[in-house]
Amino acid sequence: MVDRAAPAGSGSTGWHSSVSGAPAMPPSVPPEYREAQRAGEQTGERTAGGTSEPLPFRSAPADQSADQSADQSPVAGDPPDDGVGGTGETGSVTSEPPVLGPTGRPLPDLPEPAPVTSHGPARVISLCNQKGGVGKTTTTINLGAALTEYGRKVLLVDFDPQGSLSVGLGLNPHEIDLTVYNLLMDREVELSDVVVPSGVPGMDLLPSNIDLSAAEVQLVHEVAREQTLARVLQPAIADYDVILIDCQPSLGLLTVNALTASDGVIVPLECEYFALRGVALLKTTIDKVSERLNPKLEIDGVLGTMFDGRTLHGREVMERLVEAWGEKVFHTVIRRTVKFSDSTVAGEPITSYASSSPGAAAYRDLAKEVLARVTTGEPARG
Ligand SMILES: Nc1ncnc2c1ncn2[C@@H]1O[C@H](COP(=O)(O)OP(=O)(O)O)[C@@H](O)[C@H]1O
Ligand SMILES: [Mg+2]
Repeated sequence: MVDRAAPAGSGSTGWHSSVSGAPAMPPSVPPEYREAQRAGEQTGERTAGGTSEPLPFRSAPADQSADQSADQSPVAGDPPDDGVGGTGETGSVTSEPPVLGPTGRPLPDLPEPAPVTSHGPARVISLCNQKGGVGKTTTTINLGAALTEYGRKVLLVDFDPQGSLSVGLGLNPHEIDLTVYNLLMDREVELSDVVVPSGVPGMDLLPSNIDLSAAEVQLVHEVAREQTLARVLQPAIADYDVILIDCQPSLGLLTVNALTASDGVIVPLECEYFALRGVALLKTTIDKVSERLNPKLEIDGVLGTMFDGRTLHGREVMERLVEAWGEKVFHTVIRRTVKFSDSTVAGEPITSYASSSPGAAAYRDLAKEVLARVTTGEPARG
């Protein structure tokens, strides 16, 4: 639990700002990255601190009561519904039609993903949000694991120097010999030298550790610095159906590399008051990358995480999300449950740690929804 080890009060951004904050950036870092870096950190810090900023919508105490009600409720962590959340709201007697999902829109019938007979070419998807603690890493692990249940071959790329993805899959970051850092910086190192099994059949991992923080600075001097990850991932495209890149909480050069290497972006957003803060900046970064570096880049979806549909607060945030992002918002939402931290401690995805839990079901639904939105691999014939 690397995030937990961050300095008190700063969430996972505390570590980040101390390593790659402004003082560590050499004068040669292009101004756009320096700005993005700072803005990302500020967003994270403001949000994590959450002190004197005016609240975007209502009064403050709802935030706490949301958590408390989630903890105290007899169904906390184990709501009786299917995890997609169609029935999560208590006292749901309203004038709305009963088929409305947790996002306030009618729930579609998600088709069972068609089986695949061969693998590749992969769709590369970045999990991106410059705010820490919104569920990027959790979603990378669990969406990846759920996709393997539908026969997809998955590669996870840990692109955060904190290495939470690697740790979350049971690796000891200090014992990893070769990491994404070596792959990026050393032309002698090949992808196959770095890939390790994730413990989940059909899912591999490109691990990371603190070494990667140096790449942010060193890459600046490389030719085609923004395309480095795309170049080193190229040999994997033919072998996998989906490649998920777990980004660090910043909009610096590493994240720009991830976006440049990607076909799509999934933006996890915590369903709380400050969720939409900084999202405009993220959108600008995505737009810039798609204009200047990677015209194929699309937003595959926006995922509401840590949702509590029993509170007005949770539903209100969800409403805002749909207002802002429309159909990009996944119908699947991920509810708040302690099972996710438990499974991280166990070093495995929730789909195997608590296979029949609502959280596992939610990530299976997300996998279905992602597969319905994008094409991956070759459809089975005959
Ligand atoms: N749906 C959820 N409900 C409760 N806790 C969650 C949920 N998703 C993630 N968490 C926990 O929140 C923390 C931050 O999640 P993480 O996926 O590491 O975020 P990020 O990668 O965006 O920093 C972790 O401790 C994780 O176990
Ligand atoms: Mg993370």
